[in-house]
Amino acid sequence: MGKNMQLSLLHVVEFTVVAFTLLLRVDGRRLIETPIVRLDIQTNQVTMSNGIVNVTLSIPYGLVTSISYGGVNNLLATQNVEKNRGYWDIFWNRTSKRARKKFLGNSFEVIMDTKNQAEISFKSTWNASQSDELPLNSDLRFVMLRDTPGFYTYAIVERLEGWPLVYIENLRVVFKLQQDMFHYMAISDERQRIMPMPVDRETGKVLDYKEAVLLTNPTNLDLKGEVDDKYFYATDNKDDRVHGWVSSTNPPVGFWMIIPNDEFRTGGPNKQDLTSHVGPTVLSIFVSRHFAGDDLVIKFQQGEPWKKVIGPVFLYLNSNSSAMDNPTILWDDAKRRMNQEVANWPYDFPVSEEYIKSNQRGIIRGQLLVNDSTTTLIPASNGYIGLAPPGDVGSWQRENKGYQFWTKTDAMGNFTIENVISGTYNLYATVPGIIGDYKYTFDVQVTPGSSIELGSLVYNPPRNGATLWEIGVPDRTAAEFFVPTPPLEFNVHVYQNNFESIFRQYGLWKQYSVLYPENDLVYNVGTSIYSKDWFFAHVTRNIGNNTYTSTTWKIIFNLEIVDNASNYTLQMALAAAQRAELQVRFNDEKVVEPHFTTGKIGGDNAIARHGIHGLYFLYSIEVKGNLLVNGTNTIFLTQAIATNPFQGVMYDYLRLEGPHQ
Ligand SMILES: *[C@@H]1O[C@H](CO)[C@@H](O)[C@H](O)[C@H]1NC(C)=O
Ligand SMILES: *[C@@H]1O[C@H](CO)[C@@H](O)[C@H](O)[C@H]1NC(C)=O
Ligand SMILES: *[C@@H]1O[C@H](CO)[C@@H](O)[C@H](O)[C@H]1NC(C)=O
Ligand SMILES: *[C@@H]1O[C@H](CO)[C@@H](O)[C@H](O)[C@H]1NC(C)=O
Ligand SMILES: *[C@@H]1O[C@H](CO)[C@@H](O)[C@H](O)[C@H]1NC(C)=O
Ligand SMILES: *[C@@H]1O[C@H](CO)[C@@H](O)[C@H](O)[C@H]1NC(C)=O
Repeated sequence: MGKNMQLSLLHVVEFTVVAFTLLLRVDGRRLIETPIVRLDIQTNQVTMSNGIVNVTLSIPYGLVTSISYGGVNNLLATQNVEKNRGYWDIFWNRTSKRARKKFLGNSFEVIMDTKNQAEISFKSTWNASQSDELPLNSDLRFVMLRDTPGFYTYAIVERLEGWPLVYIENLRVVFKLQQDMFHYMAISDERQRIMPMPVDRETGKVLDYKEAVLLTNPTNLDLKGEVDDKYFYATDNKDDRVHGWVSSTNPPVGFWMIIPNDEFRTGGPNKQDLTSHVGPTVLSIFVSRHFAGDDLVIKFQQGEPWKKVIGPVFLYLNSNSSAMDNPTILWDDAKRRMNQEVANWPYDFPVSEEYIKSNQRGIIRGQLLVNDSTTTLIPASNGYIGLAPPGDVGSWQRENKGYQFWTKTDAMGNFTIENVISGTYNLYATVPGIIGDYKYTFDVQVTPGSSIELGSLVYNPPRNGATLWEIGVPDRTAAEFFVPTPPLEFNVHVYQNNFESIFRQYGLWKQYSVLYPENDLVYNVGTSIYSKDWFFAHVTRNIGNNTYTSTTWKIIFNLEIVDNASNYTLQMALAAAQRAELQVRFNDEKVVEPHFTTGKIGGDNAIARHGIHGLYFLYSIEVKGNLLVNGTNTIFLTQAIATNPFQGVMYDYLRLEGPHQ
């Protein structure tokens, strides 16, 4: 170091800007070459290091046993056995018995070992003699880059032709952190807090299901009387790009899961899933039935082949002594890093050719307009529009085998979907304020490097006649309806300005029986206000002794002149359903055969899990004019199946339309 280095500074900087910006950094006036990436391979373990972080994995399994950073020897839960610290795992079945399995490699391989990058692989290969094992090959990759505070992991999973049937229920990567270090959790700008300890759940009281525990004797007395439930911290996939924890060490350390893209997840932008929770646990869930049910289980038939690259996700570490008083500093820094990772997608560094690089991807553009009034076209503003494997209208929310590519339309309905892996897709969209699902008539064929201009597309949402009345807002959630405060026996954690914390509360379903102990909800069109008078979930009534009854809501409305020879339409959009059957009757509560029934639907469990939405259902119900009368009419909505407290539906939106035009 010294004079020569200083003299050549300009030259070197110029060179680095061109080619190796990562190699050198200016520290004051001295130029320092940063540490290179190293692999230290022992018999039973391998350590990747870059002078910032050391990550140790077991050989040949690929379990992450230690992460040292910021002067801390191991950020992972050292009280846990090595198998239970950092791992990929999967829940699967053969239609009956469920099994959980960690992805354990049976062979270890160094894929790349240079100054700037290490990439290692842990493979597991199925063969037909292992008939009791999961019929899936996996290749878990871990990547460390120079000058990068953290590491990447991705998985290549594959089934070959002729392999047996299997159902995959859940597939995720999990990190469990030191519980004495990490107390502060952050999953969004508003949802950040000091969390309970795992022991607080053990000393607490289990409530109506095992995930929900009343903290009766917590270590931190401020939390006494609160409920802990990992489902409080669920988030829509579209909103889950970074979450994690901040330690209370000096200096504080942040441990963050950054999910730079949605393409490898299932169920589209509105699929909800867990993030981080008491443990301290940090997850990235790629496949699950959460807030969706059985439809999101990947069902492979006998012989069905499959291949998918899942990830990479980035485990980001940061530290800042100023965060002692304000852990949000590390959250803000993690968000900055997340934006950088999102901008860098698709990554150029993963060595596997299965991970498709940017020059092998295509782009599509267009503008989506809505024709809902038959006179003027309006832009489909702030909608979600995306490519998913070919299917029926709305099928993207249940699709779980392929890749999906989603983006938000702008105020003019214009959209650009970048970085699409080549293939044949359908184009799907949902538009806030508009019912139903858009699907483009033609298949979209994306080839490497293609740039497709679709021009102006028009969505004609379901509509048969003029609006006579409507309840709610068509936005696929029940959030605009009346959401009660939780039962008084539970203390509520208060977040600043957080919309989600209104419904992410334990026991809201119980409040229906409190508010409507004998008579069910009645909504008078014209005088009732949906934000006050329409309960957010149509649930069963608790009549004591563990017994529940079905409930019938009434919508009362006036029609001056009914054309009894015409057909009317009730547009009924549901935001969630759990083992429910919703029956609809017009002006005759007693008619045995309902005028319409959904049949038994739903398994998203969004009522118990504070989801405010699960999967979306839209029913366009034809109403013969002779079922309606001049004057006062009543629609009876009966949720007919009542065996437990979590059953029911959430409405998204209801609209009565006049005679067919
Ligand atoms: C630490 O946080 C403070 C306050 O936000 C900021 O000014 C400073 O640049 C941060 N330091 C590092 C090393 O990021
Ligand atoms: C929006 O899309 C339309 C149709 O593709 C195009 O004509 C128009 O220029 C776009 N507007 C903007 C602001 O990009
Ligand atoms: C509660 O249910 C049990 C079992 O069905 C029955 O024996 C008991 O009489 C019921 N109690 C009340 C108060 O209804
Ligand atoms: C409703 O009132 C109009 C106008 O008075 C009348 O023509 C029509 O027959 C009535 N319809 C029914 C179903 O009674
Ligand atoms: C109303 O619907 C019925 C059955 O769907 C159909 O047969 C009839 O033609 C419709 N009537 C009108 C006026 O559209
Ligand atoms: C419609 O209403 C009129 C007047 O109330 C009645 O005479 C006629 O039979 C009704 N038609 C049908 C199809 O119900």
